[in-house]
Amino acid sequence: MNSNKRPETMARIATPELANAFIEEQLAALRAQIGDKKVLLALSGGVDSSVVAALLIKAVGKQLTCVHVNHGLLRKGEPEQVIEVFRGQMKANLNYVDAVDRFLDKLAGVSDPEQKRHIIGAEFIRVFEEEARKLDGISFLAQGTIYPDILESDGIKAHHNVGGLPEDLQFELVEPIKFLYKDEVRVVGKALGLPDNMVYRQPFPGPGLGVRCIGAITRDRLEAVRESDAILREEFARYGLEGKVWQYFTVVPDFKSTGIKDGKRTYDWPVIIRAVNTVDAVTAECAELSFGLMQMLVARITSEVHGVNRVLWDITPKPSGTIEWE
Ligand code: XMP
Repeated sequence: MNSNKRPETMARIATPELANAFIEEQLAALRAQIGDKKVLLALSGGVDSSVVAALLIKAVGKQLTCVHVNHGLLRKGEPEQVIEVFRGQMKANLNYVDAVDRFLDKLAGVSDPEQKRHIIGAEFIRVFEEEARKLDGISFLAQGTIYPDILESDGIKAHHNVGGLPEDLQFELVEPIKFLYKDEVRVVGKALGLPDNMVYRQPFPGPGLGVRCIGAITRDRLEAVRESDAILREEFARYGLEGKVWQYFTVVPDFKSTGIKDGKRTYDWPVIIRAVNTVDAVTAECAELSFGLMQMLVARITSEVHGVNRVLWDITPKPSGTIEWE
């Protein structure tokens, strides 16, 4: 039997009852696989790694160590939520690594998108490796691999994300959700009691806000991306669009235009809004949204985000544009 093929008899997990049955089955399997040994997990706070963390906490408790790396390119409030949910509520062993300066220093002056991606991916592996070496007696590495990652091993995640751990850190893998589709992961996450904004989180690229702060990343422009993204998410939630629009985010390019604020001339950045719907991220369409929401976003972003005087809406489908700007 191919251990990377979803069993044909496996029912689609669409209800809380099926999710609970899956959870019970996985807890037994995880306990059998892990025994009294230790497991390490890179916990980004995305739905896949969060579900794996929650399963492992239930199965083996303190035998799990989660490592959350803050590379400075996370969305507003994300590291805080990971700490609150996993350390605060679930009492997990969670090592929080503040690597913000380290990443931003490495990225300073780098404007080529592929080079930026590579630096972020390689540095992430390096930080994780250092954390792994600090821990004694780890036998297993848990991963939030899901079925589409296996089916499209040359697909989007594999295509964009680089690297792997060195030979002396090749632990045995624990992949409890590797046969699940994304919608099933969300049903399981809900059944495990994870908060809705974690379970229904939109896709977020590994290099994070780094590919939305166009060209060479500067701290002030990165802050403008983070603050405008937070406003966008807040307004989409208020308009009941959370979980309805597939992906929505802001981009801050590295050019300025003239404007006026409080009777004075300004020379500031624009914020670009992109909101798309898609089935598989291979093609995508601009989401059609109310003009009231657009106006509200323009008003809030131009008044609340420092260094911004204009808002642009990107209505380009994929193709010809990709979803992200870099
Ligand atoms: P594009 O921009 O290629 O994006 O149309 C398609 C989907 O992939 C996400 N994306 C990434 N995901 N690492 C990831 O894990 C990355 O480097 C990366 N780049 C893009 C993007 O957000 C969209 O959902």
